[in-house]
Amino acid sequence: MRIILFGPPGAGKGTQAVKLAERLKVPHISTGDILRRNVAKRTKLGQLAQKYMAAGKLVPDDVVIEMTAKRLKEPDAKQGFILDGFPRDLQQAKALDKLTEIDLVINLFLDPEDLVKRSTGRRVCPNCDAVYHFLTNPPKKRDICDNCGSALIQREDDKEDVVRTRIATYDEITAPLVAHYKGKGILRDVYASGHIVEVQHRILEVLPK
Ligand code: AP5
Repeated sequence: MRIILFGPPGAGKGTQAVKLAERLKVPHISTGDILRRNVAKRTKLGQLAQKYMAAGKLVPDDVVIEMTAKRLKEPDAKQGFILDGFPRDLQQAKALDKLTEIDLVINLFLDPEDLVKRSTGRRVCPNCDAVYHFLTNPPKKRDICDNCGSALIQREDDKEDVVRTRIATYDEITAPLVAHYKGKGILRDVYASGHIVEVQHRILEVLPK
């Protein structure tokens, strides 16, 4: 199944995508994770992307579209995928329409102040991309990744002012894509409040039986 996990920053796309990908045995493809890996390795793409990401702005379409197209052509994505963080504007959505069919768009929604709390409390593993929250989803040992034992960090774009810019960018540029996918009849809204497991159950309810 080819699924887009859609929604604003901090809604829980990455958290839910990992669980859904495991369940459906398809890869989790996160454009944010791919970009952060490039930033960490100081590749040409990473050096270009870093200033946009740190400011809470979108990385230019041409580079993100090329990067995602390349990833979707890899053999593990042939049987399906969970796409997280792409598309983010109409140009990306149109490019994706040309690249592949999409079966389902899961639109996570949440109160804006809850989005801010989730993002500012997030801690991530720079080694394996695992995501935690210091209050709602803490690791077993403080600031240490459960999966690989690396020291957790705060994302540079999780400072409150940047989080608010990212939410505004989402509202202005990305949220209008809801209409694009509603028009195709493949969008399902899922309320993202409550415990991670509760949200997971709501997502499972909108999957085709
Ligand atoms: P990206 O990494 O995609 O960030 P985002 O879309 O802003 O989403 P987040 O990763 O912030 O949140 P999420 O919804 O995945 O939430 P999470 O599961 O982590 O993009 C980063 C940047 O890269 C962009 O700003 C842009 O610059 C660039 N970029 C990426 N893709 C691009 C594209 N296509 N085009 C152009 N630029 C692009 O959860 C958040 C927190 O809440 C965590 O701490 C988690 O533990 C906690 N949590 C999750 N669920 C729950 C729950 N149910 N209850 C309590 N806590 C919860």
